[in-house]
Amino acid sequence: MSWSSYWQQGHITSFGESLQKTYTGEIREYWMKALADISVGSHILDLASGNGALAILIQELTNDKSLSIIGVDKAQVITPDVEGVRLQSGIELCSLPFESESFDFVCSQFGFEYSEWNKSGPDCLRVLKVGGVMNLFMHSTDSFVVKRNHDIEALLSDAIVTEIFVLCRNLVELMGDVSSPADIATIKASSECERLRLSILENLDKLNRKLPAAFIDSEIGRCVQYLFTTALCWNVSRKCQYIEDSKRILKQQLSRLEDLSSAALTESQVDEIISLMDSQGAVLVSKHKVRVHSTGEAIGWGVCFRKKRR
Ligand SMILES: C[S@@+](CC[C@H](N)C(=O)[O-])C[C@H]1O[C@@H](n2cnc3c(N)ncnc32)[C@H](O)[C@@H]1O
Repeated sequence: MSWSSYWQQGHITSFGESLQKTYTGEIREYWMKALADISVGSHILDLASGNGALAILIQELTNDKSLSIIGVDKAQVITPDVEGVRLQSGIELCSLPFESESFDFVCSQFGFEYSEWNKSGPDCLRVLKVGGVMNLFMHSTDSFVVKRNHDIEALLSDAIVTEIFVLCRNLVELMGDVSSPADIATIKASSECERLRLSILENLDKLNRKLPAAFIDSEIGRCVQYLFTTALCWNVSRKCQYIEDSKRILKQQLSRLEDLSSAALTESQVDEIISLMDSQGAVLVSKHKVRVHSTGEAIGWGVCFRKKRR
């Protein structure tokens, strides 16, 4: 559910605000190399596609308008306005609605590992043509993405977050409807309003000092700022509704991050996937840890298979 509402908000990648376009940098490079395996007019399947970040990237990198790229995802996703790309929502990777041997290239960016891979692996391989390639870029437990997410999870689970929303609601109710400069002057003169305002700022500052990068990546600061700037002149009930919506959005963010943490793979789990695929008729072509060039930090696992004749 949390993925559906995330994709329905129109995000392109799973990195939210910090990556509004499709994948860049080392991830882009990875796919540029991987696409050497596809020929003009190929049929491509993007597993757990979200809103199609990888499909869009493939179209951009190849500039081949004759490719047909189908993305599938369990969540409700939105097909981007890109020629040759079509997304299907509500599809489980364990039971793909395609004929066997339909695709030349099956791929996934931070998607396959979210599924129950002992069940999805065989089905994803079933729909690949003999000689076709399956290329999976998957989360690794030591990646900077996973580490960053642990920090955001810790921040969002902190009791201070609940406290901030209680204080916001108290302040909104105490301020009443704000519609004129005179209302603002009254609020500024109220020592109780000022006390609440300072408590909110103090609590935000505590969170920021605990985990500064995660504080920026989480939506908390932006939610509160929006409430007391853009939304300041909304009536009280609309502002209270906004507070409830913000709490719900942060809860969904937390659930997506927990999903990501449990999807991340250790090397022995990757090896289990490799032996599973081997038992289903896929030869391992390559397996490596993709890293940030400048720092050496891990980004994820790149694993590539070729389907052999059985
Ligand atoms: C981190 S997102 C990645 C989406 C996209 N590949 C991207 O890079 O932007 C993981 C996606 O996996 C999907 N997912 C999780 N389990 C799935 C399953 N069993 N079958 C299909 N999709 C699944 C989720 O709905 C979510 O959209």
